[in-house]
Amino acid sequence: MATIHINAAAGAFAETVLFPGDPLRAKFIAENFIDGAVEVTNVRNMLGFTGTYKGKKVSVMGSGMGIPSCSLYAKELITEYGVKNIIRIGTAGGLKGTKLKDMVIATSASTDSNVNRTRLLGFDFAPGASFILAKKAYEAAERKKYPVLVGSCFSSDFFYHPVANLVDQMEKMNILCIEMEAAGLFGVAAEYGANALAILTISDHIRTGEAMNSEERQLGLSRMIEVALETI
Ligand code: HPA
Repeated sequence: MATIHINAAAGAFAETVLFPGDPLRAKFIAENFIDGAVEVTNVRNMLGFTGTYKGKKVSVMGSGMGIPSCSLYAKELITEYGVKNIIRIGTAGGLKGTKLKDMVIATSASTDSNVNRTRLLGFDFAPGASFILAKKAYEAAERKKYPVLVGSCFSSDFFYHPVANLVDQMEKMNILCIEMEAAGLFGVAAEYGANALAILTISDHIRTGEAMNSEERQLGLSRMIEVALETI
């Protein structure tokens, strides 16, 4: 049953997979938020776990950083393991519409990557989140009284971007934050018929230079994980 990048048994994943970038964050989520979690895959240390949350089966697996890494795991989860919902939970650099520690439900993702243009034969594809997942996440955040923004992110192939004034233009276009995976995940989900969402926490602010300390990171990430788990 193993794929090139996932050595889990058939049926090892739940229909919904939480998808943090860092495999050790996946382990942390499995150990602290998911009941009876067992490790199901560990190729290249890209760890994945399955257990239950409030009695419902759920998985969590690292995506790695960047669109190529995230996309290949998402594709194999959908086509080989029958995964229906993939919820990225990650950090992002904040632009002017955000403050440090804000939670952002990304409903669309612009990008400097060419993957979705390739998918649509050279035309621009609009990578968007599943409305149902976004609605459930928004309602969960409201129930928990966690402040949340809803809008668009920019998924960049560059962490260190060579185009200096791009950030000004992103702000003009009402983009809230920069990360490196959502546009790829949304494209894969569209291509292979699954639902995807990205829930992001502003871990560092591009304009102010502020960054969350380790305690703030823990709290901010816990909120995002709770919101993601409430969507299953
Ligand atoms: N850029 C890209 N990805 C990120 C950033 C950033 O500033 N912060 C967290 N993930």
